[in-house]
Amino acid sequence: MEVERYEKIWIALSLILVAFLAAISISVFAHGISLPGVEHRFNPNAVFQKPPFDKPGVTEVSPGQYEVYMVGMVWSFVPNEIRVPVGSKVTIHATSRDVTHGLAIQGTNLNLMLLPGLISTGTATFNEPGEYLFLCHEYCGIAHQVMAGKVIVEASPK
Ligand code: CUA
Repeated sequence: MEVERYEKIWIALSLILVAFLAAISISVFAHGISLPGVEHRFNPNAVFQKPPFDKPGVTEVSPGQYEVYMVGMVWSFVPNEIRVPVGSKVTIHATSRDVTHGLAIQGTNLNLMLLPGLISTGTATFNEPGEYLFLCHEYCGIAHQVMAGKVIVEASPK
């Protein structure tokens, strides 16, 4: 079968799509990169009346497993300190009361966008004791740079 020269070139170029698909698959499955989860939609102005965000904070759901409900707002996180024992697996459910914020925890691949009216969820495991800074990485106004907090991972279980 005779294939035209230009047709061969275009067939070869179309393989770029296969390469892109492979790159996306590797990002999602090997590096655990995911989009903000659309679990619910709600009025962000009333977030502090909406359970479980009416009691933001850290809850131990089983030994070594923690759930955190967190609200970002100009220009702080509630809570802004998370204290867990070493080896803990921490799942954060986070939202914003006002504008788009970000949440990245140093030394982990937890990296979320905090969107008003939506809940983003991410999980990180802390196998080394120490303090892990977290900060807002979406520009959110004049004091964006002070919007930060920390995860304190204690050396021995409480
Ligand atoms: Cu919140 Cu930048």
